[in-house]
Amino acid sequence: MSSSRPSRPVSASECKMTEIVLPNDTNGLGNMMGGRLLHLMDKCAAISAQRHSNRVCVTAAVDNVEFQSAIREGEVVVIESHVNRAFRTSMEVELNVWAENPLEETHRTCNRAFYTYVALDEDGGPVPIPDVTPETEQEQKRYESAAKRRDIRLVLAGRKGLADAASLKEDMLTALQTDATA
Ligand SMILES: CC(C)(COP(=O)(O)OP(=O)(O)OC[C@H]1O[C@@H](n2cnc3c(N)ncnc32)[C@H](O)[C@@H]1OP(=O)(O)O)[C@@H](O)C(=O)NCCC(=O)NCCS
Repeated sequence: MSSSRPSRPVSASECKMTEIVLPNDTNGLGNMMGGRLLHLMDKCAAISAQRHSNRVCVTAAVDNVEFQSAIREGEVVVIESHVNRAFRTSMEVELNVWAENPLEETHRTCNRAFYTYVALDEDGGPVPIPDVTPETEQEQKRYESAAKRRDIRLVLAGRKGLADAASLKEDMLTALQTDATA
């Protein structure tokens, strides 16, 4: 049975934000504050979600975020986001963050995160959104792994039982079989 659900490429949701870190963005050590970076990431991810769905979107969940490398005052923070996969009314947005040092002409990866957004209709209720069509091998991998991450976050949020998380069950069985033969 063919699905009539519309679909959009990952490229339709891409967003890139570039900001210089000013004194007002930093803590007493001259490093960018984590909350300030999370705020910029939320804005970038919201633009991706809205580009994909053409709807007003709200943040439903933020997966664990690690700050791998401090970003110094005067450096440039670059945030890139795109929608990996859309479910019914929700979608997973992936964010990658870099810091650029314009004086040294260097750049380094700072963090990667996944945000979940829900598209809302005019009455503020969740509304179905287009699917995502992966066009490259990397996009296909992200599309598949997004289903596993979704199961994990729904189990952790208490919205799904472990027994219903199909993708996790498969992985757990594989892990158990591997353990049994190890
Ligand atoms: C997000 C929100 C719209 C969900 O509303 P709800 O009444 O629980 O609606 P539903 O149960 O139909 O869930 C809607 C979608 O959100 C997803 N969702 C809800 N909570 C989630 C969570 N913790 N993690 C991942 N997905 C979640 C559901 O799985 C569902 O996705 P699907 O339709 O693709 O299957 C609602 O909780 C809300 O408005 N939250 C506040 C959002 C906000 O203000 N954000 C800014 C935070 S500061």
